[in-house]
Parts: sequence; structure tokens; C-alpha cells
Amino acid sequence: MKISVIGTGYVGLVTGVVFAQLGHTVICMDKNREKIDNLKRGIMPIYEPGLKEMAVKNHDEGRLFYTWDIKEAVTKSDLIMIAVDTMPKENWQTNLGSVKAVAKDIGIWMNGYKVIVNKSTVPVGTGNLVERIIRQNQKKKCGFDVVSNPEFLREGQAINDTLHPDRVIIGAENTAAAMKVVEIYQDMNTVVKVTKLKSAELIKYASNAFLATKISFINSLADLAELTESDIEEIAEGIGLDKRIGRQFLNAGIGYGGSCFPKDVGSLIYTAKEFGYDFSILREVKRVNEARIERFFAKMKKTVKLKKKRIAVLGLSFKPDTDDLRESPSLKLIKFLLKEDSEVIVYDPVAMDNAKASLKRVKYAKNAYECVKGADITVLVTEWNEFRNADLKKIKKLMKGDLFFDGRNAFEPHIMKKLGFRYFSVGR
Ligand code: NAD
Ligand code: UGA
Repeated sequence: MKISVIGTGYVGLVTGVVFAQLGHTVICMDKNREKIDNLKRGIMPIYEPGLKEMAVKNHDEGRLFYTWDIKEAVTKSDLIMIAVDTMPKENWQTNLGSVKAVAKDIGIWMNGYKVIVNKSTVPVGTGNLVERIIRQNQKKKCGFDVVSNPEFLREGQAINDTLHPDRVIIGAENTAAAMKVVEIYQDMNTVVKVTKLKSAELIKYASNAFLATKISFINSLADLAELTESDIEEIAEGIGLDKRIGRQFLNAGIGYGGSCFPKDVGSLIYTAKEFGYDFSILREVKRVNEARIERFFAKMKKTVKLKKKRIAVLGLSFKPDTDDLRESPSLKLIKFLLKEDSEVIVYDPVAMDNAKASLKRVKYAKNAYECVKGADITVLVTEWNEFRNADLKKIKKLMKGDLFFDGRNAFEPHIMKKLGFRYFSVGR
């Protein structure tokens, strides 16, 4: 099947590359010409392990094409995937500007029957809105169907998640259209669930909101663990052994960030309110998460005066294995540290270039060891393997001070103590 993917961000590009890898002919389209020109030269707009090799291979072998021309993407495909941004407005309402613009363009250039597959995360009812916009803008009256196929990939593991998803959700009003989408997933060994269009849209938000709830729950328990002198890692293991609960997403720390959990929890609360429902449990999930950085910072301040101290920050991206800084807890913590008039030196294995554009008042180190050299305090915010596997003895020796704050419980307290650190983590 000829597939076009509109939007070559984290979702669109990975999706396009993986479907090409599975043998489909794919056109990846983006309105950002620089991105497209770079992609044609094999330069990826994002850091994602394994992406570049797969993209270059499929481009060279003639299954993957790039264009900034929406007309080409629409006219040359049978199935069009929308994978554009849906960032929140200040009140957490989803900004559907990009989705609406694409729907309009699809309507204008449609030259025959198409299945329009929405992969962007959009509030319930958006599929129907897309259908209306396409219809209103059609120059040529051709048939089409709108299907929701939400994306569940995680950044940093996007290729593997897309090739081996836990499930594929396909929401449609029309079974024949749903089956056309089922067809493109037929080579994946996974469960495909066909649902109502609106159910699929809500399944996406429900999944992210549930995972965020797990994180805020364990973080609340971590606070109680500190008060009761118990250990949140043991508690997470203990409850996680119950198959009904599971150990995943029970890692306590400085809170969740990224382009999705904060935005999707906010958006679901907003949507529910529009339908007259107060999703109070999610309001609390959001509140708990928003308080994490301040709480961690308060712990630092209670332990040591931060003014004029040299503070090494390890990790900038919102989680390991990505260069994505959106809603990164690290950037938020650094803001607090800079207000204290302390000297902040940062290091991240891949997100440094992205950070330099907006994060100005810090010093950038070339590696973790240069970062901690002469530091009074080291703070770990993103648990990259590079930090987990670092030579802690060397770090201790290079530092001027002995304070180590670990926002991700990446190390064992007794080992850190043995190495001579005054070590503070979360819920232990
Ligand atoms: P992104 O910001 O990385 O990429 C979006 C791309 O769309 C950009 O390259 C932009 O130039 C392009 N675009 C915007 N308007 C366009 C238009 N009119 N025509 C052509 N191109 C246009 O976004 P993302 O992180 O890939 O997220 C896309 C959607 O997928 C969002 O709804 C997001 O919530 C959802 N999602 C993201 C992830 C993730 O891990 N990032 C995972 C699952 C779902
Ligand atoms: C998340 C979901 O896991 C994906 O399924 C979904 O497709 C995606 O959002 C999306 O809709 O965009 P992602 O944001 O890439 O993926 O990263 P996660 O691995 O889920 O981590 C999100 C945040 O939660 C990170 O800041 C991470 O550090 C934090 N986290 C995660 C915890 O604090 N504790 C945990 O136990 C797990």
C-alpha cells in the first residue's frame, strides 16, 4: 500500500521509516523544508537510537521518499497518516492548529478514495472534526474515511516500540476502512484491536494518564517512605511483584516530563471538564508531579546553602536516550538553582546542542568528569547509562565537595556512603 506520513517529528519519521522497513512505499512529508532537505542527505532531525541507519537504508533502496510538497504526499498515496504536533495552549486545551491545517490540505488535494489515519494525540471527537474539514475543502468530491490509530511509542526506544508494539488500536466508524489499516500492520506479531473512532482517541489519553498516575502514586509513596524511614525501591519491588500491579512505571524520582505526559494529562482534564466531568484524580496526579522539582530543590536547600556553590548537573533531556528537552525536569531544576546565584555546570550525552539554544547562564562540560570537577554538589537528574556506569570513585575524587543528590535513585545508598559521598536520593 502507498503510504504518506504528514509530519516528520518523533512519531511521523519513525512511523514512516518502520513502514518502509516492512516493505511499504512511504512518502514522509513535512512543511519544514530544512528538515526535508536534511533528511534527503541522511541527516536526522532528532536523536533516536537506530533511526538513522534504518532511514538511510530504506531511502537508498527506494522505498522511503521525502517531500515538503503536500500535494505530492496526498495525490501519490492511498493511506495518509497525520503525525503533526498537538501542543497544549496555556489552559491545557489542545492546539489543533496543525491537525486542522493538514486536514484542509488533504481536502484540497484529494484525487481519489483515501484512508486518513490520525496518529497525532487528539481529544475525543477530533476524528469527526477532521472529516468535516476535509469535506468542506474538497475540490473534487471523492470518498474517504477517517480512522484513529494512536501511537504508543516511547522516545529512546521508538524503533523497537514501533516494530514490536504491545497492541495496535484502530478506531473507525467504517469496518472496511479499519481493515485497510489492519492490513498495513499484518506483518507485525501483535494484538490488533478495532474500536469505535472515539474510543481509540480516548484509549490514547487513558494510557498516558494511567502511566502518569502510577508515577505520581509512587512519588507520593516515596514522600511517605522518607517520613517513615522505609525504602521506596523495596516498596516498588514488593507491590510490583503483584501481576495485577506490575513493576513498570513505579520508579520514584523528580517526576515525569517530556512532550506527552504533562500535555496529555492536562488535555484529558480539560476535555473532561468540557463534557461536564471533573477528573479530580488526574488533577491530583498533575499537582503531585508539578510539586516534585520544588520538593527536591527544598531538600537540597535544607541540606546545604546553595548560594555561590559550584553545582554539577548530570542530564538535561527529560529521560535517557533522547535529545528531547520538552518539559524536562532538569531544565526546571536548573532554573531554581540559578535563582540561588550558584554556578551551574551541565553535561548531557546528547541533548547539549538543543539546550544551548535556550539555556544560557550555565557552563557546558565536555563529559561527566569535567562537569563534576571542582563541584561542591553533584545532582543527577537524567539516569543515562553513561552516568550509571561512571567511575564513582573518580567522580568523588574530582569533586571539591561530597554532596550527591540523585533525582532518579540511580545508585545504591550504601555504596555511595562507602565511597565517601553524603548521598541523598528519593524515598530512601
Ligand atoms: P514533533 O513536534 O516532533 O513533530 C511534528 C512535525 O509536524 C514537525 O516536524 C512539524 O514541522 C510538522 N508539521 C506541523 N504542521 C504541519 C503541516 N501543516 N504540514 C506538514 N507538517 C507539519 O511532534 P511528535 O513528538 O512527533 O508528536 C506528534 C504527535 O504524536 C503529537 O500529537 C504527540 O502527542 C503524539 N505522540 C508523540 C509521541 C512522542 O514520543 N513524541 C508518542 C506518541 C504520540
Ligand atoms: C510516553 C509513553 O510511555 C508512551 O507510551 C507514549 O506513546 C508517549 O509518552 C507519548 O504519548 O508521547 P515518553 O514520554 O517517550 O513515552 O517516555 P516515558 O518512558 O513514558 O517517560 C516519561 C516520563 O516519565 C520521563 O520523564 C520519565 O523519566 C518519567 N518516568 C517514567 C518516571 O518518573 N518513573 C517511571 O517509573 C517511568
